[in-house]
Amino acid sequence: MAERIPIGSDHAGVELKARLIEELEALGYQPVDMGTGDSKSVDYPDFAHRVAAEVERGEAWRGILLCGTGLGMSYAANRHPGVRAALSWTPEIAKLARRHNDANVLVLPARFVSEQEGVEILRTWLDTPFDGGRHVRRVEKIESGTRYAEP
Ligand code: RB5
Repeated sequence: MAERIPIGSDHAGVELKARLIEELEALGYQPVDMGTGDSKSVDYPDFAHRVAAEVERGEAWRGILLCGTGLGMSYAANRHPGVRAALSWTPEIAKLARRHNDANVLVLPARFVSEQEGVEILRTWLDTPFDGGRHVRRVEKIESGTRYAEP
């Protein structure tokens, strides 16, 4: 069965999102468009929370978000326990976000990458596994939070 991948954007990311949905379908995934649907101005957290909540609840094991800079989507998505949303502006960043951080949400800065770069970043993120090893401990420490704030 095709992997279901929720994908959301605000108005700034809507065009690139459409291109990524096409790419996901061509690759055999089942992208689920969580909005927005057009270029009318909307609030990015509404879409970040929809996608991140699916990953938090385990309804999807990964998701995709786009906004102008990718920053607002990252802030909102990373409020969800278990979500590691990685703002990725090159394929290399996306690769390391998977290899070292086990990133389960890809965030793209739609106003700062071309369509072709966006597709390349997506494909790299989809195809790169987590390295595991020493990175498991580090990723676990993200979730355990303030316990590690003491020197
Ligand atoms: C919308 O103009 C813009 O603020 C949004 O797409 C994003 O860049 C926010 O972080």
